[in-house]
Amino acid sequence: MLSALTVRRWAIASTIALLIGCGAEDITEQHSQSPGQSIQQDIVGGTNTTISDNPWQVSLQTSSGFHFCGGSVINANWILTAQHCVNYGGVISTPARVVAGITNISGSNSGQIRTVAEVVPYPGYVGANKGKDVALLRLSSPLELSSGNVQAIGLVTAADASGGVTGTGVVSRVTGWGTLASGGSSPDTLQTVDVSILSNISAQSSYPNETITADQLASAAPGKDSCQGDSGGPLTVLKGSTRVLAGVVSWGYGCADSRYPGMYARVSSFAPWIDRVIAGARRVALYRHYNRGSGDHFYTLSSSVAGYVSEGVSGFVLATQIPGSTPLYRYFNSRSGDHFYTTNWSDLGFGRDGYAYEWVEAYVPTDSAPDTANWYRYFNTGNGDHFYTTNWNELGAGGGGWIYEGVRAQVYTTP
Ligand code: ARG
Repeated sequence: MLSALTVRRWAIASTIALLIGCGAEDITEQHSQSPGQSIQQDIVGGTNTTISDNPWQVSLQTSSGFHFCGGSVINANWILTAQHCVNYGGVISTPARVVAGITNISGSNSGQIRTVAEVVPYPGYVGANKGKDVALLRLSSPLELSSGNVQAIGLVTAADASGGVTGTGVVSRVTGWGTLASGGSSPDTLQTVDVSILSNISAQSSYPNETITADQLASAAPGKDSCQGDSGGPLTVLKGSTRVLAGVVSWGYGCADSRYPGMYARVSSFAPWIDRVIAGARRVALYRHYNRGSGDHFYTLSSSVAGYVSEGVSGFVLATQIPGSTPLYRYFNSRSGDHFYTTNWSDLGFGRDGYAYEWVEAYVPTDSAPDTANWYRYFNTGNGDHFYTTNWNELGAGGGGWIYEGVRAQVYTTP
């Protein structure tokens, strides 16, 4: 028989809560189920637990109180969850409420209930099975962390990972209110289960039709797994005697199917991004477009520009000004997309036909940092200044009327 699986999502459509099992939004993989093999896919071995033992666990709910995903408290204002809990085919949806401090979903009204002010998706996500399956939620008002039932959890850093806290064979713990079987019923009481971390090489051989990326982590144990509705929730490991966040429930074929490990977003891969976002130093994507005659341009729009070839995200700039960064002004023209300039044309006392000054859109660091790449600045008194990644001298062509002034900025090469 064929068993369809699943990054199975509990989705919200407008005001109506829909339970999506195998809908169009699912990442569905067909695999054969050998005869005689149990199709029951329980979180076997999972047991009731309490929020005081897992005080970083939160429930993401619809306005009617329907639990659809988990999450983890990073600090009083920020929750880490899975991006597939909030990204439906590229459209970001905001969970109606986040509930902290509850053991039972039925007791949600006695928990700390917050609304979400902002969803920050990790850039470049295309599907849970392709990695990058994390998003941050900024709460409208901070959680009260003094209670033993609501506490932040520390992140596994790259140094922790090098030190072995997420090494192969390490026992990790996953918690949630997800279903007790694939397609089965949901518990009212928070569940916990321990699973052992596998190498990515082993995970890749279990999933030959997927490409397991370095930012994913596999964990499994016989008859034990996370399941639908656990997504976004925590996979934790011990660092000394302290629990730290190693993974975010992401995807798997079925649940507790011995052939297919549970897959998690590897928190150590995202820790620098998480730290930057919660510190307010956001990076936004720039898309690169290329034209042999005039070199390459950056735009914030991903759409192709006539005559230009879009090559994908090529750089990131700051969305929040930090010391040592320079503002970039964005100009928009519906025919040719948007451009960045360092000068505000209004300051120069003239506008440019067809262009509208919109706002300061970004900042670039002016000092070199480890993960930055050069932008070259070209200046033309008629047109203002532009940035390109390529030096026209290197391309062997000059731009008529344009003066090359040298490297003026660096942009970040990672989000
Ligand atoms: N994608 C599921 C969710 O949205 C989680 C699936 C986890 N599957 C697994 N076999 N560990 O809740």
